[in-house]
Amino acid sequence: MGVVGLGTMGAGIAQVCVQAGFETIGREVSDDLGERGRSTIDHYLSRGVEKARLSQQDKDAALARLTLVTDLGELAGCDLVIEAVIEDLATKHTVFKELDEIVGAGAILATNTSALSVTEIATATNRPERVVGMHFFNPAPVLKLVEVVRTEQTSPELFDAAYEFSQRIGKEPIACNDTPGFVVNRILIPLLNDCVRVIDEARVSPEDVDRAMTFGANWPIGPCALIDLIGIDVHVHASEALAGALGEERMAPPPRLREMLEEGKLGRKSGHGFFSYSASTK
Ligand SMILES: NC(=O)c1ccc[n+]([C@@H]2O[C@H](COP(=O)([O-])OP(=O)(O)OC[C@H]3O[C@@H](n4cnc5c(N)ncnc54)[C@H](O)[C@@H]3O)[C@@H](O)[C@H]2O)c1
Repeated sequence: MGVVGLGTMGAGIAQVCVQAGFETIGREVSDDLGERGRSTIDHYLSRGVEKARLSQQDKDAALARLTLVTDLGELAGCDLVIEAVIEDLATKHTVFKELDEIVGAGAILATNTSALSVTEIATATNRPERVVGMHFFNPAPVLKLVEVVRTEQTSPELFDAAYEFSQRIGKEPIACNDTPGFVVNRILIPLLNDCVRVIDEARVSPEDVDRAMTFGANWPIGPCALIDLIGIDVHVHASEALAGALGEERMAPPPRLREMLEEGKLGRKSGHGFFSYSASTK
């Protein structure tokens, strides 16, 4: 199989695939970025060895299943290609158009897009029936869910194959139609935005909003801590995309989040968001 893009999501998806025993070709735009993807995977597998979750032998075998390439043409023999490049329709169109010319007629072409339309991405190919969404969650090696997304054109056999593949790599797939935000983001984004609006409406602190939802609704993590983990930039971008697609004001990011973004408070990764993080808690 092939993974296009070894950034945050692509590296995680490639790790899941090599750990599940699949020979995986990872394509990056440069050798340096490819090596960075590989070292991310190495780092997380090493942590697994330290914590005795996998043996050194299994780690070495998993890494040996990963081949790095920069030329998309090297993916010609893949049965499944998962695209995980930046969330930009033009970039995804370029990748899918090229893949359409490269991979065999029987291959599955999957996109990991969060907020773009799978149907629109598929228009770059001459085989929209062989395009499906496979939406993994971050971090892909940890979170079990894969939303397997069908468009009106997706062939049922191809959809079933993508669904079964998700199970074979140890994931918990769900089946859904190509609608804005699919399932989790459609529910979670407006919900988290409401939690942020309540901070100002009810004059409650972020700490107490989190206490409210953990002690009152039994959430495992408070909404503010969750947004810090997702990243304010990622959440605002996803909110804007969903607001644009659905035309609902409630989906749009609240002013407080936009201000945090302008101030560079991006959450855990920047050390500051609703809460502050030291190097050891980032
Ligand atoms: N980060 C998340 O939480 C998350 C979760 C689920 C899905 N997604 C989706 O996964 C996809 C990738 O997101 P990410 O967070 O891994 O991004 P990232 O910024 O970490 O990685 C982006 C990748 O795109 C590649 N890229 C950039 N410009 C390119 C170009 N012109 N041509 C080809 N490749 C190019 C980069 O080399 C890199 O591999 C997006 O569609 C995103 O919406 C992200």
